[in-house]
Amino acid sequence: MSESTHPVSPAKRPVIELRRVVKTYYMGEVEVNALRGLSLVVERGDFVAVMGASGSGKSTLMNIIGCLDVPSRGSFWLDGVDVRTLDEESLAIVRNRKIGFVFQSYNLIPRTTAIANVELPLAYGGVKGRDRRARALSALESVGLSDRLEHVPSEMSGGQQQRVAIARAIVTNPSLVLADEPTGNLDTASSLEVMRLLSRLNATGRTIVLITHEADIASFAKRTVRLRDGNIIEDERHTAVDAPPPRLEPGPGLGPLIGAAVRSSTS
Ligand SMILES: Nc1ncnc2c1ncn2[C@@H]1O[C@H](COP(=O)(O)OP(=O)(O)OP(=O)(O)O)[C@@H](O)[C@H]1O
Ligand SMILES: [Mg+2]
Repeated sequence: MSESTHPVSPAKRPVIELRRVVKTYYMGEVEVNALRGLSLVVERGDFVAVMGASGSGKSTLMNIIGCLDVPSRGSFWLDGVDVRTLDEESLAIVRNRKIGFVFQSYNLIPRTTAIANVELPLAYGGVKGRDRRARALSALESVGLSDRLEHVPSEMSGGQQQRVAIARAIVTNPSLVLADEPTGNLDTASSLEVMRLLSRLNATGRTIVLITHEADIASFAKRTVRLRDGNIIEDERHTAVDAPPPRLEPGPGLGPLIGAAVRSSTS
């Protein structure tokens, strides 16, 4: 992958840097301007909640940050790399290695066990055999699901399915986790569980961008960005980027997962 030159040294580069991004969808004759010149910089280790009314452009923004879609105009640097210079294959590699996705509807593969669902991104990434199984196991362990390895999605509660989805998102040890309304289908207790997990992930250095409609969910983040009509109308920081997330609670760490990821990347 080509590292295009970036004016700032690698360690200090923001994870996300969007400059005057426009996204226009064409529906036959009709133009829909989903993003209208939006600029956003997210530093490593930040935990950002994106809020805004339905149709304000939140998912469009998320899809661009996640390299699932490209801007119509403007620039986007991910980890200091100009995304416009990447071809489809390189984009797929970036998605697989750098980004973990969590969606409102879990998006697990039906009739496929929890452990197999979590192994999937590793399989795409070319990780094989025992190493793959071991890493999927520690990811499921870190979300408290070691006792549900062989369950298929239809045999789990919504909260458990979302925890499997989080395990799947973090099993590749991504630097950035994107979550589009991850608690949208969950009851209060499961929502809190998911937010605690995201807080722990953030505390271990992962950058998190989360879409939510609920102020209570946003209160787990360090910063709230509000969209209206495809632009940012408010950007409020509650907690410093390098401080622990505001609602982090003491609990089991993510040690086994991170240990496994570090071991495999150095072997
Ligand atoms: N693929 C698409 N084709 C055409 N228009 C689209 C497409 N995706 C989104 N839009 C339009 O772009 C605008 C922003 O949509 P987006 O999905 O980003 O909103 P959102 O803030 O995520 O809303 P919600 O809270 O309902 O999920 C909307 O007007 C939507 O209708
Ligand atoms: Mg949306």
